[in-house]
Amino acid sequence: MGSDGDATADVIRVRRSGSLQGSVRVAGAKNSALKLMAAVVLAPGRHTLRNVPRIADVTLMAELLERMGARVTRGTDEPDVVTIEVPDEMVPEAPYDLVEKMRASIVVLGPLLARFGEARVSVPGGDDFGHRPIDMHLRALEELGATFTTSHGVIEGRAERLLGTRILLEYPSVGATENLLMAAVTAKGTTVIDNAAREPEIEDLAAFLVGMGADVSGAGGSTITIEGVERLHPVEHTVVPDRIEAATYLAAVGLAGGSIAIEGARADHMEMLLDKLGAMGLRVDDGGDRLWVTAPERPGRLTSVDVATLPYPGVATDYKPLLVALLSVADGVGILTENVFAGRFRYIPELVRMGADIRVEGHHAVVRGVETLSGAPVRAPDIRAGAALVVAGLAAEGETLVADAHHVARGYQDLVGNLARLGADVALVPGVGGG
Ligand code: UD1
Repeated sequence: MGSDGDATADVIRVRRSGSLQGSVRVAGAKNSALKLMAAVVLAPGRHTLRNVPRIADVTLMAELLERMGARVTRGTDEPDVVTIEVPDEMVPEAPYDLVEKMRASIVVLGPLLARFGEARVSVPGGDDFGHRPIDMHLRALEELGATFTTSHGVIEGRAERLLGTRILLEYPSVGATENLLMAAVTAKGTTVIDNAAREPEIEDLAAFLVGMGADVSGAGGSTITIEGVERLHPVEHTVVPDRIEAATYLAAVGLAGGSIAIEGARADHMEMLLDKLGAMGLRVDDGGDRLWVTAPERPGRLTSVDVATLPYPGVATDYKPLLVALLSVADGVGILTENVFAGRFRYIPELVRMGADIRVEGHHAVVRGVETLSGAPVRAPDIRAGAALVVAGLAAEGETLVADAHHVARGYQDLVGNLARLGADVALVPGVGGG
């Protein structure tokens, strides 16, 4: 498959923008599409995925599948459709150069063990959120009967036949739940996952697996039950919409003002966030398969609130940089507590460069709203923080240059184009230094 996501233009230039108007459509969820692409390994044949975002991480996952022996094609007339031909024999291996670029590659572990009884996956290093262990993935797969050895930076897993059992996760890890779910679908007997992650993307993965012939119930709740089946078949499936992308446009309206429709966004996947944004003064109406969002009349300001990130259905950690950007110009003081990833505050010094008043104490950020931000050269430390700096720029006097914009292209199909179509003054500028 060719490459997607604009990784060449590495700086996004944002100028203070007037009210946003019009409508924008969210793409399929990155965090679901990547897992569904891994899950196809479970059944040989031709799989069809619809609503697949055109982003750099999907290109990387396609490359990983191709190195394992699959053929991945994106439709020319229908660019959101990806077909994957999974062969009978595959190389059950995720090499370091890909795992290093995209940590989500480790979700091939479960499906490879299930299908081939062996898997070699490079140990992921640290990333922009700090050290992210995979101990829970490995322990859970061991309970199904897999064994692991690690040498030369590679985890080698083996399993003669996985056997269903009850597994209690010590934390509802998204990745561990996914790896386990994919490993269990063809295990012998019944697997029960307790304290499972409940994210909408897990429900999407379970629906995908059921479409392949798996017997999975309870996904979306804390207990998932899987009755092992002998064999799975190829599937056609539409990826769930990206709730984090939807939240990005909600934040954009909160910062720039205006009133827009976000097509495809699902209010039922973002309830806690919508409650918080409502308490801040954004009006969000559920239009079924779209959200309508309206900012207070200017010169009104949003009101600060306190927010704590938690596993779903709590406020997602991925929304947090957007919330900090909103709070940085809201009226009052808001305390943000990070409960999911300890080190996830790297973008805060960048917002401070733009005039935000934020103090970090342990896993709390105390955000004192200021009247206005001022544009500055900043650097995107990761996907969502990069997007938050872009939308913060909409409310900053003058010009903001967000460098390392390739992070944004990893997770957003066309953030700059979409914001520009809503009336924002934003552009990709190749070859300009920032930060
Ligand atoms: C996924 C999402 C990420 C999101 C996160 C939480 C993808 C590609 N990424 O990441 O965007 O922010 O869910 O909603 O879908 N942990 C361990 N040991 C493990 C596994 C996890 O200690 O074996 C810890 C992590 O360090 C972290 C917490 O558990 O502190 C949550 O991680 P997890 O839910 O597994 O997140 P990911 O699946 O990595």
